Amino acid sequence: MEQYIIKGGNPLVGEVVIGGAKNAALGILAAAIMSDEPVLISNLPDVNDVNVLLEAIAETGAVVERKNRHTALLNGRTIGSYVVNNNFIKKMRASYYLLGAMLGKYHHAEVALPGGCNIGSRPIDQHLKGFRALGATGKIQNGMIVVDAKRLVGARIYFDKVSVGATINVMLAACLAEGRTVMENVAKEPHVVDVANLLNSMGANIRGAGTDVIRITGVKSLHGADYSVIPDQIEAGTFMFAAAATRGDITVKNVIPKHLDCLTSKLREIGCEVSEFDDAVRVVCKKRLHSTSVNTMPYPGFPTDMQPQMSVILALAQGTSVVTESIFENRFRYVDELTRMGALIQVEGNIAIINGISQFSGTQVAVPDLRAGAALVIAAMAADGVSTLEDIEYIKRGYEDFAEKLVSLGGIIEIVETEKEIQKFRLKVGCV
Ligand code: EPZ
Repeated sequence: MEQYIIKGGNPLVGEVVIGGAKNAALGILAAAIMSDEPVLISNLPDVNDVNVLLEAIAETGAVVERKNRHTALLNGRTIGSYVVNNNFIKKMRASYYLLGAMLGKYHHAEVALPGGCNIGSRPIDQHLKGFRALGATGKIQNGMIVVDAKRLVGARIYFDKVSVGATINVMLAACLAEGRTVMENVAKEPHVVDVANLLNSMGANIRGAGTDVIRITGVKSLHGADYSVIPDQIEAGTFMFAAAATRGDITVKNVIPKHLDCLTSKLREIGCEVSEFDDAVRVVCKKRLHSTSVNTMPYPGFPTDMQPQMSVILALAQGTSVVTESIFENRFRYVDELTRMGALIQVEGNIAIINGISQFSGTQVAVPDLRAGAALVIAAMAADGVSTLEDIEYIKRGYEDFAEKLVSLGGIIEIVETEKEIQKFRLKVGCV
């Protein structure tokens, strides 16, 4: 299996162009098939999650034309099947957005139960609550989620938990329901707003995305559109935090600085210099950072998808820090791996107590999930010596050209598969 091999110790310095937001692209691609006209989506990230969803969409019979790595033309006119089977949903859970899209358009959909990702149980009760409020039946049958509706009628829906997935999925179905829908206690992430903006560009009538209340007036049908996905706030944050961990100087380009406010303020709080420009942010770290406390919250709070990367920085900071994970119940699996690199972290339930050390030492680690993988790469970049990372498939789900971008910043990283290649790398970097 492919592994990353990294020689740490180099400050990461330079500029990196950020790609389209994976978690916006997944909802946008599902929305695109709700029209019977061509929808052109650009600035797609070329990552596995997006590529698997495009395969799942093609399986329904929709037209999927990949114009280039970052652009796809979709047309839902030729959809003949409303079933999304296990092959796709096992690989990535956001195929479940096809439930909301096909329920809204065809009043029927069957999608295999999403795998419980390894950061928590990942229930879908709020998705089903929203669909049922619109008049659909929702049941689990032979491992499939089956949703059906004679009519979809607008309703008032209060979400018991703030859920990005449920907000997007129910918004998809509601935009073709009859009458008005009011969704309360919704997620406000930039990717929720991006999906709503695409739907409105297709003729939907959605107001309030990005606030606590989304109001939708159903329309009869949606027309074609030409839309560009927003930049990925988590990819941008990952490189900003890589600068902080390696005493580097990185400018992330093609970003929306407003989406990064929480990350920028946290980096300044612990001692980084952060400069904001129209579509770029520069992070400089010249000295050892100091401790702080972090609590993950729905947007605009500190994003849970940046929690592992924050822990890596704090594990090298002066003093004791506290990281509280309030969104998922199992998102500290990377701590065991970081401990193997010398980190001093104690996990008590959903709280990690971190005593900063001066430097990690390189070793072999295993990647437990997507964002933890990115965090472990950052740790290896900051470590003394050579590290190898197994199970890097997780990382490819959400980061395009991750190794190449790190090399362009002065990182020493390669993809290897055999012991021979590992030895060759060690000889080359003088760490035998
Ligand atoms: C989305 O997952 C993202 N994935 C996640 O990013 C991200 O961590 C998460 O939102 C939070 O921001 C995609 O957008 C594809 P949620 P999602 O529904 O929608 C509970 C990454 O690394 N909940 O907002 O699954 C749930 O258990 C991934 O890119 C219910 O209880 O997250 C969690 O505790 C990882 N019932 C909380 O809500 C439901 O019906 C937030 O989950 C749905 C969710």
